Amino acid sequence: MQLIFKLGKIPVLSIAEIITVLKSRNLSYDIINANRYFLHLKINNNIYPDILLNILGGTREIFKVDTIVPTKEARRIKKQFKFNLDNSTTALGFAITESIKSYKEREFKKPYSDIKNRMIPVKLAKIMVNLGIQDDTTAIYDPFCGTGTIITEAILQGLNVYGSDINTQQVKGTIKNIEWIRDQYNLDKNIQFEIFEHNATTMPDKLKAKDDNISIVTEPYLGELWTSKINKGTKNLKTIAKVDKSIEKSIKSISKILKKHQRLVIIIPAFRMKHETMYLKVRDKEFVGLTKIPFISDIITFENKELSDIMSIMYKRRNALILREIFIFEKI
Ligand SMILES: C[S@@+](CC[C@H](N)C(=O)[O-])C[C@H]1O[C@@H](n2cnc3c(N)ncnc32)[C@H](O)[C@@H]1O
Repeated sequence: MQLIFKLGKIPVLSIAEIITVLKSRNLSYDIINANRYFLHLKINNNIYPDILLNILGGTREIFKVDTIVPTKEARRIKKQFKFNLDNSTTALGFAITESIKSYKEREFKKPYSDIKNRMIPVKLAKIMVNLGIQDDTTAIYDPFCGTGTIITEAILQGLNVYGSDINTQQVKGTIKNIEWIRDQYNLDKNIQFEIFEHNATTMPDKLKAKDDNISIVTEPYLGELWTSKINKGTKNLKTIAKVDKSIEKSIKSISKILKKHQRLVIIIPAFRMKHETMYLKVRDKEFVGLTKIPFISDIITFENKELSDIMSIMYKRRNALILREIFIFEKI
């Protein structure tokens, strides 16, 4: 079956997610073409594109390449692709579109929110969870769970979840949001979750003994809520240095619970100063027992570039003062 994926706003992140999801489900595929709007794949197994679209956070639509049903709509879509589709491809069959409404609900209607500490966008949380899943991963742990956005996205992917936060209020809020998601999506009343108070700069001992194959997916403390571009004043630099140290210490501690091959998918913040972007030192640190891995290991030519050496992806909202750079580590 041939599928064409309409990619999200950061195409490379969307491609990385699609490929990781297919690999984690042991689905075999051949890459036919890619550009900044679309990824065209031949999938060598039988799959349901609507289920796949539901799993993916960074794909807007999936088109099934079909040689039988030529429709006006299909011809229009085919024109959009700018791919040289195979001559035998006379049409594109059905298109499935993501449900924007359900993303909006998860973003804005959950009972517990926390603007002050910032919340990760739901789609980004979902993509990061997918990037963390290997074929044998059974659980996700978020050691800076905040309002539980990453945790609830992992629950919706059918995973066991563990979460912790230094702040009691956040622990209670995450539990509230889990119960809301459970009711909203009619999930099993007995879904398993364990949310507890914990300082991520120390190792969460109780998780080491779990049978689960746990991957860590997290957005750590990003620093104060700045309202204007940061200057290099001593107070600001001190705060940034504190965030830097805390993330470094946390990576060392939390990664101790990972079993071999499980992943740590983490955001490291960067700060927009008046004239430049300031990166944390932890960004370039090496960690014993962890290896940084590329987002895409396949050879894909994308707009005349090779994608296999991308080691981080920057996620920025328009006018944001704090940028989120995503990294993937694997336990060796
Ligand atoms: C950026 S927020 C995470 C937001 C979360 N991704 C969400 O969408 O709600 C960072 C969280 O880290 C927590 N935190 C700060 N320092 C911590 C530490 N040392 N250990 C654990 N949690 C910490 C804060 O209480 C806050 O909830």
